[in-house]
Amino acid sequence: MATYMPMQLSISTKPHGAVTTPGLGLTPPVTPTIEDRANSSTIPSPLSGTCSDSEAVSSPPQFLDELEYQRDENGRLVTFGDGAWSVVYKAFASPRAINPTRPFTPPSSPNPAGRLVAVKSPGRGDARPVLYAEALALTRASSTPGSENYIVPFLGFINASSSIVMSAIPLSLSSYIEDKARIMRQNFTTRTMYDPVIGMPQWHDLAKQLIKSLDWLHNQAQIVHADIKPQNILLRPRISLDDDKESTEFPYEPLFADFSSSHSISTTGTQIPSSACLSATTIPFTAPELLSVLKNPDAVPEPSSDVFSLAVTLLGAATGDILIYPPGLHPMQRQMLGQQGHLIISNARQSGNNGTRVPKNGLVEKLLQPAVSKNPAERVTARAWFDLANAL
Ligand SMILES: Nc1ncnc2c1ncn2[C@@H]1O[C@H](COP(=O)(O)OP(=O)(O)O)[C@@H](O)[C@H]1O
Ligand SMILES: [Mg+2]
Repeated sequence: MATYMPMQLSISTKPHGAVTTPGLGLTPPVTPTIEDRANSSTIPSPLSGTCSDSEAVSSPPQFLDELEYQRDENGRLVTFGDGAWSVVYKAFASPRAINPTRPFTPPSSPNPAGRLVAVKSPGRGDARPVLYAEALALTRASSTPGSENYIVPFLGFINASSSIVMSAIPLSLSSYIEDKARIMRQNFTTRTMYDPVIGMPQWHDLAKQLIKSLDWLHNQAQIVHADIKPQNILLRPRISLDDDKESTEFPYEPLFADFSSSHSISTTGTQIPSSACLSATTIPFTAPELLSVLKNPDAVPEPSSDVFSLAVTLLGAATGDILIYPPGLHPMQRQMLGQQGHLIISNARQSGNNGTRVPKNGLVEKLLQPAVSKNPAERVTARAWFDLANAL
């Protein structure tokens, strides 16, 4: 499994101006928490002093259905994955009986009825306000027209356990890229060595879809995601796809997930509270201006930093290397490379086994170069980037 060296943006690890989460201390026994996730790929840390505490907040819709958590043969809860803040459990949801004449607890059965859902629960003690803020972000994003095409379906929040319930989308872009990279290594041919590991037309199609989603997120939902990377993009199979094996379409719809670092860029409507300004960061997906935060403590993720992160995500989908940097680097080297993020494409070409997949002046470089400019003000916007993706 891929691991990253954690990198801390600030010396303080206390949430800055964290909101009070309803239901704290009322965790039902069914919702486990993990105290210490020391090996997490990303370290959550506050971008201190960046957010006001006075933003208006409304509450997320409550999830009221009955949940039956899935367990493996050893009785352990089954998970879809985990991250810096959370563990995502597999469960079946079914409507509660209204006014039951007697208390009814459905028995645990090997073939439970109900719909498959993903339950994102706090994975560490300080994650509750973060998940609450994420639920608010999802509430805002889900109420924006078109959301069903761009973000993971949000089904509601459970106050008592600070859990977010979503439709289950069991495949992440990171797993997909790693699978494709492995298959390409096993079946290496010079015919495809200059193409992205996921295939050239498929890569172009994926890029167009993701850039369109980013344009929607910034300009319709008015949210900066602030943690775009292959692990936070889920893939829903396309239903309209014909059975043609040679199809040039990317076979999935990519959906943005994990809004735990996101924040609002809107001046109206539901605001995402200040705890959302806690940020999880993963070098090398983090824009260079945010990595030099020690020099500029006011740096906050902007739409332009999302553009950078999506470009690096697409670079990983071309090379097949979702770690982006060679393994075994010292944290200082990682930090230095991260701060030179504008060189990320030429670095990928020169290092690693898959540099051939990003040929000079090829489609991948032409589409990604304007999105990794050193100066964020010179970086392409999602809107202009989408036009470029369609023109190439
Ligand atoms: N709706 C979902 N369906 C299936 N798996 C999911 C879903 N949401 C998240 N996951 C899995 O759980 C992992 C962690 O979830 P994420 O929201 O990224 O949490 P964190 O904020 O802790 O990083 C994801 O990388 C993904 O593999
Ligand atoms: Mg995540």
